[in-house]
Amino acid sequence: MNSQPWRFVVIEDPEVKKKLLRAALPQAKKITELVKDVDPERYASIKKRYEELPDPVYYSAPAIVFVIGNGRYAAHSCPLACENMMLAAHALGLGSCWVGFGAMVTDDAEVKKILELKEDDAIFGPILLGYPKVSPARPPKKEPKVKWL
Ligand SMILES: Cc1cc2nc3c(=O)[nH]c(=O)nc-3n(C[C@H](O)[C@H](O)[C@H](O)COP(=O)(O)O)c2cc1C
Repeated sequence: MNSQPWRFVVIEDPEVKKKLLRAALPQAKKITELVKDVDPERYASIKKRYEELPDPVYYSAPAIVFVIGNGRYAAHSCPLACENMMLAAHALGLGSCWVGFGAMVTDDAEVKKILELKEDDAIFGPILLGYPKVSPARPPKKEPKVKWL
């Protein structure tokens, strides 16, 4: 099949990053309010980020990679492309973060134009890339549910 239903838009330009943040932040804040009663702890930590960081969506990352998919195979292939990119980044000593909030830019006409988004395009990621300042300890791993037959 080899559909490769993706394309990539890599943003390094500070002016474009500002536009992205202006488009995504109000949406991210709206979604955050939905978490308030469901998960107060998570809500508090996200709110803290909004207060403390100059860019609480894309974390001032040097590169923002939008993975844009189209067609029936995009929903499967594009997240795999994202993860492969994150694994490759790690192998190269880079840090990465998938920021779902960063995809909430589709109400902004200027950003849509920059990303050349068509009606049936979907954004996966975006994936942030940069050299990490810290290496957090690995979180405890849950036992996977596996049935052997
Ligand atoms: C689909 C998806 C969306 C995410 N969106 C965000 C986001 O908007 N902002 C953020 O800081 N991290 C985001 N993350 C990263 C997670 O917060 C978390 O750091 C990452 O998934 C690793 O932790 P985990 O192993 O507990 O999932 C996202 C991760 C995934 C898989």
